[in-house]
Amino acid sequence: AVAAAVVPAAGRGERLGPGAPKALRELGGVPLLVHAVRALARSRAVGLVVVAAPADGVAEVVALLDSHGLDGKDIRVVAGGATRQESVRLGLAAIPEDVEIVLVHDAARPLVPVEVVDAVAAAVRAGAVAVVPAVPLADTVKRVEPNPGRPEPVLDTPERATLRAVQTPQGFDRAALVEVHAKALAEEAAGAADAPPVTDDAGLVERYGGQVVVVPGHEEAFKVTRPLDLVLAEAVLARRRA
Ligand code: C5P
Repeated sequence: AVAAAVVPAAGRGERLGPGAPKALRELGGVPLLVHAVRALARSRAVGLVVVAAPADGVAEVVALLDSHGLDGKDIRVVAGGATRQESVRLGLAAIPEDVEIVLVHDAARPLVPVEVVDAVAAAVRAGAVAVVPAVPLADTVKRVEPNPGRPEPVLDTPERATLRAVQTPQGFDRAALVEVHAKALAEEAAGAADAPPVTDDAGLVERYGGQVVVVPGHEEAFKVTRPLDLVLAEAVLARRRA
């Protein structure tokens, strides 16, 4: 069974500083989004990539993917939404009915190795409902009472050995992912806004009681969020090209 990948790429990327939408920022002269789509398309497990572009940038993204030689792949571009969750939902709606495995990959993780993409797809194919690649943490993590701009009281310190930093692509049984997105949308519409925000798709599966499993991620699958991440990504790319 061949998988389809959804790439939410409609974010503004404000933490990266002023400029173009994050997915269109360049790394080694190539937009982050193009790196991310290439990384997915390189996997034999992936047969289709659906990009959720900024709503006012669909034509631009189509032209961009074509100009970077991706016009031979099965790639579709849809308008994304106001939140990452909405962008994923809109991308999911563009996947043909017969596709049973869906990967969701951030445009902001341009350097994910193809081995990670393959491993996530394989774990879903082997029967997992939801699979996330993740890495152990270098830093100790503390939970705090948020108090921006002031010293924040520490509540507790989770045992570091039990923590994982989660990456993408995350892999899902398609029906399960569509179902949790629909449930979340229905709850939002009903005004049930007291649940904490979910920052990844696997988090939605967890919210509704599904089992999520972790497989090894890769240090090069980090997310480009802040300016320093771009510096690091340029260095990784230069090392690969050397
Ligand atoms: O902001 P953050 O780094 O968490 O964004 C993760 C991914 O979600 C990025 O690839 C971003 O483009 C995407 N996104 C989106 N639609 C939004 C907000 C974020 O597709 N409205």
